[in-house]
Amino acid sequence: MFNMTDMNMFSRRCVWVNGPVIVGAGPSGLAVAAGLREQGVPYVILERAACIASLWQNRTYDRLKLHLPKQFCQLPNYPFPDHYPEYPSKKQFVDYLESYTAHHDIRPHFNESVDSAKYDEACRLWRVRTTGADGEVEYICQWLVVATGENADPIVPDVEGLASFGGEVVHACDYKSGDKFKGKKVLVVGCGNSGMEVSLDLCNHGARPAMVVRNAVHVLPREMFGKSTFELAMMMMKWLPLWLVDKVLLFFTWMILGNTESLGLKRPDIGPLALKNYGRTPVLDIGALEKIRSKEIQLVPGIKRFSSAGVELTNGERLDIDAVVLATGYRSNVPYWLHETEFFGKNGFPKTPFPHGWKGQSGLYAAGFTRRGLSGLSADAIKISQDIAGVWKDDLKQKKQKVPTHRRCISTF
Ligand SMILES: Cc1cc2nc3c(=O)[nH]c(=O)nc-3n(C[C@H](O)[C@H](O)[C@H](O)COP(=O)(O)OP(=O)(O)OC[C@H]3O[C@@H](n4cnc5c(N)ncnc54)[C@H](O)[C@@H]3O)c2cc1C
Ligand SMILES: NC(=O)c1ccc[n+]([C@@H]2O[C@H](COP(=O)([O-])OP(=O)(O)OC[C@H]3O[C@@H](n4cnc5c(N)ncnc54)[C@H](OP(=O)(O)O)[C@@H]3O)[C@@H](O)[C@H]2O)c1
Repeated sequence: MFNMTDMNMFSRRCVWVNGPVIVGAGPSGLAVAAGLREQGVPYVILERAACIASLWQNRTYDRLKLHLPKQFCQLPNYPFPDHYPEYPSKKQFVDYLESYTAHHDIRPHFNESVDSAKYDEACRLWRVRTTGADGEVEYICQWLVVATGENADPIVPDVEGLASFGGEVVHACDYKSGDKFKGKKVLVVGCGNSGMEVSLDLCNHGARPAMVVRNAVHVLPREMFGKSTFELAMMMMKWLPLWLVDKVLLFFTWMILGNTESLGLKRPDIGPLALKNYGRTPVLDIGALEKIRSKEIQLVPGIKRFSSAGVELTNGERLDIDAVVLATGYRSNVPYWLHETEFFGKNGFPKTPFPHGWKGQSGLYAAGFTRRGLSGLSADAIKISQDIAGVWKDDLKQKKQKVPTHRRCISTF
């Protein structure tokens, strides 16, 4: 990598990268970087936050643990320490990622946010613009790896009156613990994994949560007959079609959890695994259901509007509440910065689903958009790093790894 001279009228520094630019230093970006390093391919990794895995370090609650057993969450060729429990805590996972980063000598450019990236057809190169502490930079490279995550930005719903609500309103990404909500009535909007765990946490801290359930939701036990539900599903998938695995899972769930519909949690018509193809993750229960049964977590229908001191629900009921936690999910931020519409859809995910959504045209790659969490992103990272390394090594053989002469045609965009 070397600096080119300033090239545009705004004095944006230009940097030629002799290898790929990876956007995002979460587990996906780190796993791609490690794979590239193992094969001797240089790269640059850009991260908008001041640390690796910022989702895990800055935007998750204290009680969070991995939902799946550790063997399904480790990054390629780097097992969790033996003394780690079956479901590592957030701190243990972050420690593991720090050690992974050090082991592979990964040095992200922190506090450097990618504002735009575009393929320059004339030069056949990617141009990636960033803003950071050192000002504005333009990276020019042959390969671009998008690893900004499925959960890059929180979704804040546009609900009537929310701005006029007098109590505290936080998104789940800013919720740390129920400590400060002790004795308070808290409306938790959303019943995905975040909504369920935040509600449980609030209960455990002496708050009184009401959780908004506006649609059907699949709740499964985290384990079935001593095996993780995920592992059991993966085993069955080797032999049975998906629809049948879903039926078996739901039958076992009924045996273990009973009829959850009677509690107010209607199940979707589509099975829990099939629903993942529509971007919906089933809830893996780690205790919220018990609190719903005992009415410590109250279930309420959709929201009509907020007022200064409370909320009106779609069934006409009014609740006095002290605070609101929006467990309303996240979105990909890719459409905001990547000028490309062939490979990525409007929702910021590759249009082609897993396992084929990792490679686009013109040296574009996507890591971690599989809707399969850590196990899915590891699979992406292996394929991406091998693919790039293959081309890079061929280029090297042909002595084409030198700075291409066609860089001179670069113009601004
Ligand atoms: C509360 C919560 C709990 C979860 N628990 C689990 C779990 O137990 N198991 C599991 O498998 N999955 C879990 N997930 C899913 C989670 O998304 C993955 O585990 C994992 O973090 C995905 O890694 P990633 O690198 O693809 O994305 P991220 O971890 O989101 O990392 C993306 C990185 O890109 C950076 N970035 C974004 N935009 C830019 C930009 N424009 N410029 C520069 N940098 C940028 C971000 O700052 C971030 O550091 C959980 C998600 C949430 C929200
Ligand atoms: N320990 C863990 O492993 C763990 C913990 C937390 C999260 N996660 C993962 O993180 C990802 C995000 O999970 P998440 O729970 O934050 O988001 P999510 O799965 O997208 O769930 C969002 C929830 O908010 C509801 N919602 C959105 N807008 C609403 C509105 N205006 N009114 C009422 N309800 C509304 C949705 O309801 P509808 O369905 O009706 O749209 C849904 O129930 C998932 O992949 C999840 O598995 C994992």
